[in-house]
Amino acid sequence: MILIKGGIIVTAERQYRSDILCNDAGLIAQIGPDLECPTGCEIVDAAGLLVMPGGIDPHTHMEMPFMGTTASDDFYTGTAAGLAGGTTSLIDFVIPGQGQSLYEAWQEWRMKAEKAASDYGFHVAVTHWDDRVHADMGRLVTEAGVNSFKHFMAYKNALMIDDAIFLRSMQRAAELGALCTVHAENGDAVSFLQAQLLAQGETGPHAHALSRPPGVEGEAAQRAITLAALRDTPLYVVHVSTREATEAIAAARLKGLKVYGEVLPQHLVFDETVYHDPDWLIAARHVMSPPFREKSHQQALWGGLMSGQLQTTATDHCCFCREQKERGRDDFTRIPNGVPGIEERMSVLWHHGVATGRLTPEQFVALTSTNTARIFNLYPRKGCIAVGSDADLVLWDAQATRTVTVDALHQNVDYTLYEGMTLTGLARKTISQGVVTWDDGLLRAERGKGRYIRRPAFAPGGASSV
Ligand code: URP
Ligand code: ZN
Ligand code: ZN
Ligand code: ZN
Repeated sequence: MILIKGGIIVTAERQYRSDILCNDAGLIAQIGPDLECPTGCEIVDAAGLLVMPGGIDPHTHMEMPFMGTTASDDFYTGTAAGLAGGTTSLIDFVIPGQGQSLYEAWQEWRMKAEKAASDYGFHVAVTHWDDRVHADMGRLVTEAGVNSFKHFMAYKNALMIDDAIFLRSMQRAAELGALCTVHAENGDAVSFLQAQLLAQGETGPHAHALSRPPGVEGEAAQRAITLAALRDTPLYVVHVSTREATEAIAAARLKGLKVYGEVLPQHLVFDETVYHDPDWLIAARHVMSPPFREKSHQQALWGGLMSGQLQTTATDHCCFCREQKERGRDDFTRIPNGVPGIEERMSVLWHHGVATGRLTPEQFVALTSTNTARIFNLYPRKGCIAVGSDADLVLWDAQATRTVTVDALHQNVDYTLYEGMTLTGLARKTISQGVVTWDDGLLRAERGKGRYIRRPAFAPGGASSV
């Protein structure tokens, strides 16, 4: 049992001074000013700190097999790193292998994730279509606690599906009360451009960005929205990186469609020039999809977050070490796509969002936790500070400043995108299931302590409105 004393609670709605008592079941038991400390209860001093709901990262890829290799952070190291950065839950992606059923893949991912140090759930990717997929989607929603499915419009000849499959999946998800999520890039266009660039001798990381220009994302986002409207089903667009996709989402919302957009902090910070770095490895370490964009797109993303047209922040945490990135030394299409970030997300968003005055602390909570909990039906168990909710909290030092270095981080990867950057805003303590797991530099993550979180289907009408 712990009593968090003297902090300022920040929720998505307001700030107020209060104590929080967390019980041994890992739940918030009491909230109030000057709470008594029951016998045997440990006091956690939160004086001078903000007490916020722990971060929820709805987009990670721990130990994902991808592009001929496997992401280097596993469910233990990745969730532990999340705790060090103030993130107490994540939703990862089950990706069925060739010929593997969705349900079998979900079982495989459950096994892999047993070592997780923080709570987690799964989206399941629909990568092909047959009667078994239709049946498995039902079983996953009704028996397995999965309420969201992922669709890749890119990665041709691997994960990509066509519009007919997407529509079938949307129809099935709508029947089941599940949410469709989408990686929106036109995979045929990417594949065409990749082949042309290679034929012209463009083999370096800069060609990665050239093969995935903003229109490729804008077109796919608009197409996905159009398809979702045909089936009257909500849609969540992952890693929105362009003005075009932001505007498509905002326009859809103005029409009353339930469309949500997710932003990755790295797209707010880095631009396309990272691919011009003369050091091949530095440029390759920024290879992810969608790629980093020309600076003006960042303004649109900030505008989307500030206005509420884009609702969540995630990381797309997908780590590849030097020797993995080296696979694409002579051919940019073979550089494994993905970058780390679960440990840095909260600080990066605070520094560039709140410390600059773009976002209020309440918006920060909404964007890192509450909106995600609402959209993915985890609320009010997660994403809020209320009696009966999980005691997943971060004690945040809004003034603390540190310079990021890979050596001080816990992710199982050999670099950070933010190396050498000085950031204001830091998780001093992270509390997961009522236990202090990150204590001012000391990581007390416990292997296997994380629980699989079942997410129920949505009521008719679809995902909750955010
Ligand atoms: O480059 C990325 N984003 N890698 C992970 C897979 C995906 O597209 O989300
Ligand atoms: Zn993606
Ligand atoms: Zn360029
Ligand atoms: Zn991803």
